[in-house]
Amino acid sequence: MAVILALETSCDETACAIIRDREVLASVVSSQIEVHKRYGGVVPEVASRQHVLTINPVIEETLATASIRWEAIDGIGVTCGPGLVGSLLTGVMAAKTLAWIHQKPLIAVHHLEGHLYSAFLTQPALEPPFLCLLVSGGHTMLIHIRDHGHYEILGQTRDDAAGEAYDKTARLLGLPYPGGPEIDRLAKEGNPRAFAFPKGKVDHPYDTSFSGLKTAVRRTVEQLRSQRPSEEFPLSDLCASFQKAVVEVLVEKSMRALEHLNLSTLVVCGGVAANRGLRARLEQESKQRGAAVVFPAFAYCTDNAAMIGCVAAQKYKQGLVSNWDIGVFSRMELEQTSSLYCCNPEIRKL
Ligand code: KG4
Ligand code: ZN
Repeated sequence: MAVILALETSCDETACAIIRDREVLASVVSSQIEVHKRYGGVVPEVASRQHVLTINPVIEETLATASIRWEAIDGIGVTCGPGLVGSLLTGVMAAKTLAWIHQKPLIAVHHLEGHLYSAFLTQPALEPPFLCLLVSGGHTMLIHIRDHGHYEILGQTRDDAAGEAYDKTARLLGLPYPGGPEIDRLAKEGNPRAFAFPKGKVDHPYDTSFSGLKTAVRRTVEQLRSQRPSEEFPLSDLCASFQKAVVEVLVEKSMRALEHLNLSTLVVCGGVAANRGLRARLEQESKQRGAAVVFPAFAYCTDNAAMIGCVAAQKYKQGLVSNWDIGVFSRMELEQTSSLYCCNPEIRKL
């Protein structure tokens, strides 16, 4: 068993968690949404300063909730990339400090690997191989999870990520940041067939593109605004039609990959995995094919440290730890995670 204290500060959530293998002993997330809302998106410099202010109280609250002694903690996990450099630095420096003071191994974690592992928190018995649809604010990817640490990226977005498309479209519609939950809520009340938006297809079995969809929504909004008085603006119909276009292309690509790779489990993770429309359609389509679909609990879809701790626990059990000189990475390929670790002979393989 591995007990890990983990930190996540890659974007606009300051988070700390304590994990025992795949079990969450405590998870605290302090969101900066209210701070960034007035700017319509995350301001990197503001985010870094906010992390500095919040990280210590968040760590203290996590330790108090888990009511655990330092001797019982095996290692410190931390997100080292990809993400905002200033934000990542706060988490990595805090993790190094804790690891040094308490003489614990440091385990750096790739943020996206964290999202993949969020599924294990909800379903601890889950094991690879499986297919993963990762849909967050920065990424849209279909990944074949062959084994722990062995990932094959089947396809990704050519332009905007799914969450980014939600956020940009929400802004266009005058909705607050982050746009995903707002559009999801309004879509439930609207007619998905009211507007025929393009599905964002590209000439590749698993890649996606959402920039055409965004442009189509913008043109429609401009047209509607010039034609109709504001009280008649069909906001929920626009949201429902936009959501249908995003969901349908994600469902189509995921089902194709399940069939071609002959896999029986689909894991959906990242912030957009919280989307109720996407969840319902993927459940329906997977069921028809006899496949299981796993969604992390809502709390573990968006950024959190529990998922980072879950990765770190797995690495620790494999005898993998990071060097003290580990840096932060604004960009980093998911296939390169092995470069974050060295085998520490002092750590017993569990
Ligand atoms: O994974 P995440 O917390 O951060 C990144 O690593 O990017 O994802 C945040 C994204 C935002 O773009 C947000 O609008 C989107 O997830 N999101 C949603 C929903 N909840 C959050 N998108 C669609 N429907 C939702 N219910
Ligand atoms: Zn994320």
